Amino acid sequence: MRRKVIAGNWKMNMLPGEAIEMINELTPLVKDTKNEVILCVPYTDLFYALLTAQNTNIKIGAQNMHFEESGAYTGEVSGKMLKAINVEYVIIGHSERRQYFAETDETVNKKIKSAFKYDLKPIVCVGETLEQREAGKAVDIITKQTELALQGLSNEQVENTIIAYEPIWAIGTGKTATSEDANNSIKEIRNKISEIYGEETAQKVIIQYGGSVKSSNAKELFNMSDIDGGLVGGASLKAEEFSKIVNYDK
Ligand code: 13P
Repeated sequence: MRRKVIAGNWKMNMLPGEAIEMINELTPLVKDTKNEVILCVPYTDLFYALLTAQNTNIKIGAQNMHFEESGAYTGEVSGKMLKAINVEYVIIGHSERRQYFAETDETVNKKIKSAFKYDLKPIVCVGETLEQREAGKAVDIITKQTELALQGLSNEQVENTIIAYEPIWAIGTGKTATSEDANNSIKEIRNKISEIYGEETAQKVIIQYGGSVKSSNAKELFNMSDIDGGLVGGASLKAEEFSKIVNYDK
């Protein structure tokens, strides 16, 4: 049985004081869950979030990293730097980075390899646009993105990669994929992993759904056979709402 992993992606929101307050409020609300709880916060919140989440079951992640370990890359942060302050997770290849910051399947693959080098756990995002979906290309797109992201990884690394299926048309729009649709897309991703790395590995990979997840739809989504939790944007900014998503099974 795969565990459920519920991760918040704060995107470019929350000042340090707000981060500390949110985590302090969230801590008692999620302390009894058996689900894994992660908050991926802006770089400027990382240190505060890590300190505030110490001795809790809340894990902290970053939202991006560079694939080189150091050098003349003004404005970038490396996996080595994240690891040095005890960050555990890192989102890689979010559609907003692919769309606005020229992230490609190639840089995604390099970043995942670098994340493993520094013992960070990558949360890798894949997902189709509305246009691709309407053209009947969704499955091709998401399975190809998955294949290219994981290229050259060992089976063990693949098993330790979290994949977040986030249809772009469902992000921040209030539109959610139906639970059947999301489950089917995730099955296609798992089938592709099985084709390349074998069924045993594929069955171990955590594949989340992301895109307008909230407390009112979390239960239906996370109860599907192949959806192993969620990557939550807007609804992860408030402790009470996010705790209800984490506690969807209570
Ligand atoms: P929303 O939950 O705000 O739609 O964002 C989803 C997302 O992009 C999480 O990474």
